[in-house]
Amino acid sequence: MHRQIRKAVFPVAGLGTRFLPATKAIPKEMLTIVDRPVIQMAVDEAREAGIEHFVFVTGRNKSAIEDHFDKQYELESTLRKRGKSHALDLLENDLPAAGETSFTRQQEPLGLGHAVWCARHIVGDEPFALLLPDMIMQAKPGCLKRMMDIYAQQGGGNVVAVEEVPWKDVNRYGVVGFDRTSNGVMMINQMIEKPPRDQAPSNQIIAGRYILQPGIFEKIAAAKAGAGGEIQLTDAMIALMAEQPFWGYEFAGTTFDCGDKLGFLLANVAHGLAREDIGPVFRDALEKLLIRHRDSLVDDEPVADSDLLEKVGRKRTRSVA
Ligand code: G1P
Repeated sequence: MHRQIRKAVFPVAGLGTRFLPATKAIPKEMLTIVDRPVIQMAVDEAREAGIEHFVFVTGRNKSAIEDHFDKQYELESTLRKRGKSHALDLLENDLPAAGETSFTRQQEPLGLGHAVWCARHIVGDEPFALLLPDMIMQAKPGCLKRMMDIYAQQGGGNVVAVEEVPWKDVNRYGVVGFDRTSNGVMMINQMIEKPPRDQAPSNQIIAGRYILQPGIFEKIAAAKAGAGGEIQLTDAMIALMAEQPFWGYEFAGTTFDCGDKLGFLLANVAHGLAREDIGPVFRDALEKLLIRHRDSLVDDEPVADSDLLEKVGRKRTRSVA
């Protein structure tokens, strides 16, 4: 019998240097996709998947994240007095209940594995979800929900969301090797963090969503610094894979890497277009803007779509399942 996944860990200690000066005084996870902070998008995905406790591994200058997941009495009472019930509902719906959040600090930037390890006492001896909030994964149902289904179907183990990227990009990610099971789920049999292109077992990468058994913590504790001199989560997963199965869920939506300027802009455009309230108006305005922009570019060198996509790097478009 598999154990229920109740807790999700969100590593949010990164400095966000790629977004300076915007991130000088606010955490990169508080930048917004339309009107929702990036971190809220990841929490939304986790709540949809049934998560009950949200564990944030923060760092210095991240207190805005803690404030975001707290009540704002003055604001609420002003909104109430002004009869702004829609805005009040929004605040209420986004807020995990009292006691459903925990915050701990990664005191030094020692890598993703170390960030996860910092949450070990809060997670305790139970399986948990891990979401890298920079990766916004657009799909219905959400990526973690689909992974929970696989976890239940397989009767436990570990689950990793994977996604195909162009071969030239494999050296920027954790990459998996796999067999397919009879029901189409991947059985991962190899993992390697940021391999040289000619050593990658496939072009399926680890996409930023995980379900992990608590045994991962002792593997992280035993791990030595790996790629980039950091304690790599992937190295600890390789050690755990010798003892437990790792299933791969091939994500079938659209991923935006919001740690990257172009991914972030595209996430805003895609989510703006998908919104019921502003989507139609936004589309018209965007079309006009693009036409005007194209007209102003007639004398300039055109930018080929493939060049743009290459710069976006991690943005991969697929039809949403
Ligand atoms: C991390 C993981 C890597 C994964 C990637 C997804 O790398 O270590 O395995 O493919 O996230 O974004 P990072 O982006 O922190 O270098």
